[in-house]
Amino acid sequence: RNYAEAIVETVREPLIVLDKDFHVKSANRSFYDTFQTSPAETEGRLIYELGNNQWDIPELRKVLEEMLPQNTSIQDFEIEHDVPAIGHRTMRLNARHIAQKGSGTQMILLAIEDVTERKRMEEILRESEVSRRLCSRVLAAQEEERKRVAQELHDGIGQSLASAKFRVNSILEQLVKDGGETGPQLLEAILPILQENIEEARRVQLGLRPSILDDLGILPTISWFCREFQKTYSDIRIQTHIEIEEKEFHSLLKTTLYRVMQEALNNVAKYSRADLVDLTLRKTGDRIEFIIQDNGQGFDMEKVLSVESTKRGFGLTSMRERVEISNGSFAIESLKGKGTAIRASWKVPDTPL
Ligand SMILES: Nc1ncnc2c1ncn2[C@@H]1O[C@H](COP(=O)(O)OP(=O)(O)OP(=O)(O)O)[C@@H](O)[C@H]1O
Ligand SMILES: [Mg+2]
Repeated sequence: RNYAEAIVETVREPLIVLDKDFHVKSANRSFYDTFQTSPAETEGRLIYELGNNQWDIPELRKVLEEMLPQNTSIQDFEIEHDVPAIGHRTMRLNARHIAQKGSGTQMILLAIEDVTERKRMEEILRESEVSRRLCSRVLAAQEEERKRVAQELHDGIGQSLASAKFRVNSILEQLVKDGGETGPQLLEAILPILQENIEEARRVQLGLRPSILDDLGILPTISWFCREFQKTYSDIRIQTHIEIEEKEFHSLLKTTLYRVMQEALNNVAKYSRADLVDLTLRKTGDRIEFIIQDNGQGFDMEKVLSVESTKRGFGLTSMRERVEISNGSFAIESLKGKGTAIRASWKVPDTPL
């Protein structure tokens, strides 16, 4: 008996021992601590009367009273109620018979687990999972839409501008052959306007979603983007270190990588005054790592990222959000005068969303 009592006493979960008429024979310390009560207020009393009848719950009565005659046990029976000293709680009850040798006395051992916190955490996790999935669906729909607009732009406005330019050119050649004077001049003035519009349409199209991403994959897209970037910003050199294969990327991850690269490199061009960028994409162990590091002037992260900052744009925040929605982790490191590094990483194998 001492042995059994010692066990009951050391268990962290609140436990009570009831006799066959549901009077409390004893309870452990954890029970008294949890429910802020004492042996004097507890022992010898009917369980339903404890703590101002707070255990007088019809469902509990039913399961408890069926236990002895039907020789059943109670497993993970959940009750919710307000415990005066500690507030609204969800308890999980488990109960077993104990038959005492010799005397034939029947007893019930009742364990009460407070699962309020756990249930709350589960709920929070479930909600954040739901919103993560929702976000990633919204982002996917947005990418789909951008792809569609890019195609429209290419096939519609892009094509007709190109054909208008071609025609103007032909007319111009003809007029020059015919020896006209003012006609060619007038037409010539239209050409740069057309050319500008063709380039503008192309720029908008590239910002939307390049078809190379869907047609060839992320690795060719990175090489292509870096080439285009260096054409535009000829004083910035990009060194790429790619140590990973295309098959490691699912579609959400490809898009995320592309958008992060786009934003990070645009920031480098806009603010860093760097002349060298290191772009690393590799698999190390079970993680995919993506690092974009520049050797520019860096920035004061605390200032820029503070709530009242006027420099705070959408770029850094949206990179973080995209990475987190795709189950990755994200970090920015920047030191004034030392450059900036954007780091994102994902665990593989990862389940595609
Ligand atoms: N590579 C970098 N080097 C130096 N400063 C940077 C770099 N990247 C970001 N910054 C600083 O951080 C600020 C916030 O960047 P963020 O991308 O969030 O916004 P933004 O580029 O100003 O606007 P948006 O991205 O919404 O067009 C920038 O204004 C700039 O001061
Ligand atoms: Mg930006």
